[in-house]
Amino acid sequence: MDVLLEADRLTKRFGALTAVDDVSFQVRRGEVVGFLGPNGAGKTTTMRMIAGYLPVDAGRARLCGVDVQQQPERARAALGYLPEGAPAYGEMTPLGLLTFVAQVRGLDGNARQERLRELRAYLQLDAVWRRPIETLSKGFKRRVGLAQAILHDPDVLVLDEPTDGLDPNQKFEVRKLLQTIAPDKAILISTHILEEVEAVCDRAIIVARGRIVADGTPQALQARAIDHNVVALTVPADAAERSLEELRNVAQVASVEQQPGSNGELLLLVRPANGADVLPAVNARIREAALPALEVSRRRGRLDDVFRTLTRAA
Ligand SMILES: Nc1ncnc2c1ncn2[C@@H]1O[C@H](COP(=O)(O)OP(=O)(O)OP(=O)(O)O)[C@@H](O)[C@H]1O
Ligand SMILES: [Mg+2]
Repeated sequence: MDVLLEADRLTKRFGALTAVDDVSFQVRRGEVVGFLGPNGAGKTTTMRMIAGYLPVDAGRARLCGVDVQQQPERARAALGYLPEGAPAYGEMTPLGLLTFVAQVRGLDGNARQERLRELRAYLQLDAVWRRPIETLSKGFKRRVGLAQAILHDPDVLVLDEPTDGLDPNQKFEVRKLLQTIAPDKAILISTHILEEVEAVCDRAIIVARGRIVADGTPQALQARAIDHNVVALTVPADAAERSLEELRNVAQVASVEQQPGSNGELLLLVRPANGADVLPAVNARIREAALPALEVSRRRGRLDDVFRTLTRAA
């Protein structure tokens, strides 16, 4: 069975507000899917319904084919869930909390000891192992949260902002960990960090006001950026006129704009028609016309531009 996580027309209302509005998507084994959207878009609410912590108003969620509403116990056995914010039971130590979670998950004796040792090393919890969780720094709290989420080696992980508040080193560690465990799991992570999406996600789902506004690979989403495949080249100011003239006549070029650069240089932005890749043609024209290009590069498009456009318009 390939689809491990399925959201099927999930809907949640809080009074007059429809926080999650008819949201459907699937996550397959081996996929890491980023769940993006502005504050209040409905990410946490969706994740809580998938995890079975919040009743749905309509639709259903399935984990490994098991309906979360109908068979919560069985569904949750397949799930590791990291809620938004700090883990509960702040007065417990990581040792105490993870022992408790292991018991709930049915791990006893040597198997339990062994798993706790693994997690302690894996998430580098040695220094805080016997300290109350509420006294730990944000980063350690997140790591304890991650430890409890992956403790039973679940097939599905739903992680609500797993790297929120972590320093760059810890962010890197968490991403590495996700990549290590990703191949045989289905992982859904919400995040506000777009570079994280490019770093770890195979796919990104963007939500705004409770609705999905985009679902695709990071590359496909970037391709929707306004400057996708724009070729930027730098020329000496005195060659600007001639360069503009030449480049405007290249096939599939929609327009060429100029912007002031530094040191008497100019930046020319060659905008293709319909996002076409005009770099080879531009390079050819530079050679043929012997244009004094100092630097030539093709822009991929920025995910944050796409994010802003999609979530504003929604
Ligand atoms: N228990 C609740 N009662 C009333 N309204 C709620 C409740 N939980 C969430 N909401 C509202 O539902 C909407 C979606 O909230 P949600 O927490 O799912 O957003 P989010 O995408 O996770 O945002 P963030 O990026 O800030 O974490 C918001 O308008 C929020 O105020
Ligand atoms: Mg949230």
